[in-house]
Amino acid sequence: LAQSTAIDSLLGFKPVPVSTGDTVVVPEGYRFQVLGAWGEPIAGDMPAFRPGANTGAEQAMQIGMHHDGIHFFPLDGSSEDGLIAVNHEYIEPRFLHAEKYKGLELDSSAVVYDADGKRDDDDVLKEVAAHGVSIYRTSKQPDGTWAIVADPRNRRIHGLTEMEIGGPVRGSAHVVTKFSPDGTKTRGTLNNCAHGVTPWNTYMAAEENWAGYFANTDKIDQKPDLPREHARYGVSTDPRGGRYGWHLARSGADEYARFDASTKGASATEDYRNEPNTFGWMVEIDPFDPNSMPVKRTALGRFAHEGVVFAPAVEGAPVVCYSGDDARFEYIYKFVSDGVFILAQTDGSILDTGTLYVAKFNDDGTGEWLALAPGRNGLTPANGFADLADILVNTRLAADFVGATKMDRPEWGTIDPNSSEVYFTLTNNSRRTQAQVDAVNPRAENNYGQIVRWRYANGDHTKNAFEWDLFVIAGTPRQSATFAGQTLTDDNTFACPDGIWCDQNSRLWIQTDIGEDAQLKGPTASMGQNAMLAADPRTGEIRRFLTGPNGQEVTGVISTPDGKAMFVNFQHPGATATAERFAAGDMGSQWPDGPGSVPRSFTIVITREDGGVIGA
Ligand code: FEO
Ligand code: CA
Ligand code: CA
Ligand code: CA
Repeated sequence: LAQSTAIDSLLGFKPVPVSTGDTVVVPEGYRFQVLGAWGEPIAGDMPAFRPGANTGAEQAMQIGMHHDGIHFFPLDGSSEDGLIAVNHEYIEPRFLHAEKYKGLELDSSAVVYDADGKRDDDDVLKEVAAHGVSIYRTSKQPDGTWAIVADPRNRRIHGLTEMEIGGPVRGSAHVVTKFSPDGTKTRGTLNNCAHGVTPWNTYMAAEENWAGYFANTDKIDQKPDLPREHARYGVSTDPRGGRYGWHLARSGADEYARFDASTKGASATEDYRNEPNTFGWMVEIDPFDPNSMPVKRTALGRFAHEGVVFAPAVEGAPVVCYSGDDARFEYIYKFVSDGVFILAQTDGSILDTGTLYVAKFNDDGTGEWLALAPGRNGLTPANGFADLADILVNTRLAADFVGATKMDRPEWGTIDPNSSEVYFTLTNNSRRTQAQVDAVNPRAENNYGQIVRWRYANGDHTKNAFEWDLFVIAGTPRQSATFAGQTLTDDNTFACPDGIWCDQNSRLWIQTDIGEDAQLKGPTASMGQNAMLAADPRTGEIRRFLTGPNGQEVTGVISTPDGKAMFVNFQHPGATATAERFAAGDMGSQWPDGPGSVPRSFTIVITREDGGVIGA
């Protein structure tokens, strides 16, 4: 903490106003530069970015699209030299293929099929390769700017990268495929939203809306027949699948055909009926070892993982982490390892044995964790849960069964390193009815979201019982409330909290994701563009710190260890351009390359003109 008395604010900057323009605004005395936009070369032949015209193979050597979770791994403790790991959640095909799709009426998610319903293989490869994770070295240059630096650790991990399946589901019948008859491997990670950083300094990428990449074409109009491990997660029965129709690649190549999870062969070793069971996990990546194979850590459960946050590691105590399932009426989970943390020897294998719990928030401000384990809370074969692997593959159904609290879309979590309190954003839930309101989800038709926090006796994250409160109920000044009993004002009104990160000084950074359909109109019109705010968790004071350009959401934030440089992502600028506007050549946003350019998700590096700590 800064040298100050308890009543001094952690926030030392002048708030920025609500913005409606196609611009990036930071506070007075701050500046920023663009770094690491989609398409920048980082590895291999370092192919130059050609807006919307690179090949699939080139994309696999360039930074992916739609930046989300991000971390800066210092090299030798440096605040001026490190490895960035950044997630690429999904793609905007009309920008990815801007050359080929020029002049077509396409909305932000549309892909183009050939007349026979097939898709071009290289288009599919490029889309798969624009997903996943980028790892690249960045360092501060003599002129003070930050640059991407060539390094043997620079690496792309994407939708085709071979991965290990770790933990209790490894080798089970649930993950047997033609590609991996013994159920130990799979290919790729998709829809990587937020992330986590382990106490042993590896990166974890979350698999969020993976279900939409699959089709189950032999179950068309037979929804009751869809296997429960597909149905509860929303695997599509549309012949084109939910998103991009990768299984319709013209070649019929196995690596794309697997996205049709229908039953084609005589057994699971002959088809990809189980392929969706190899997604929905947290994926561990060692950014320092470019030859390491990522591992899906199945003990942490299978759902729409937003991200994961680890409690501060305690030598000799179990490892504890938390993860939200971002869908309406889904849950917040906690994992507690069986083994204990020992700095000199603990690695990711500690995540393979332990207990997964789901949260129950009582209306009186207490809460408890309900174990999702064989024989506990009624999770028995007689009740439809055969064993631990079955519980983990069907995590949502197990959580339903034990009566956990259905939340307003849990997104990121963070832990205050000084108080050990846990914060989770609950972004919105327009479908909650008045009859479904409870104390932790207190509003029907919740367009604005809230932030919940909880704490344990003695700060012990392994405990079953906790106490919670709502840190802030977001919204307009009239509809909002903070734990300190204030309402929000013009300087800090916000909606749809999503990214959240507590820095080493306890400054709480809150990022907003008002969805593309709701931006600059309707109930959230008065919040303007998506923004990042900073809060003082002791007083509840909140100030708006930055605002972003058209169509984007602000997602992903990390500082260097000295707090003097901060990396922040803008995802999907231009996404609000209508199909008609795109056809007419209007890209919706000119960020980051200026008028007439193809919009690109990008990172900014924020510094202070006086060289001070960001936010202070
Ligand atoms: Fe990808 Fe829940 O945000
Ligand atoms: Ca998010
Ligand atoms: Ca979101
Ligand atoms: Ca979004």
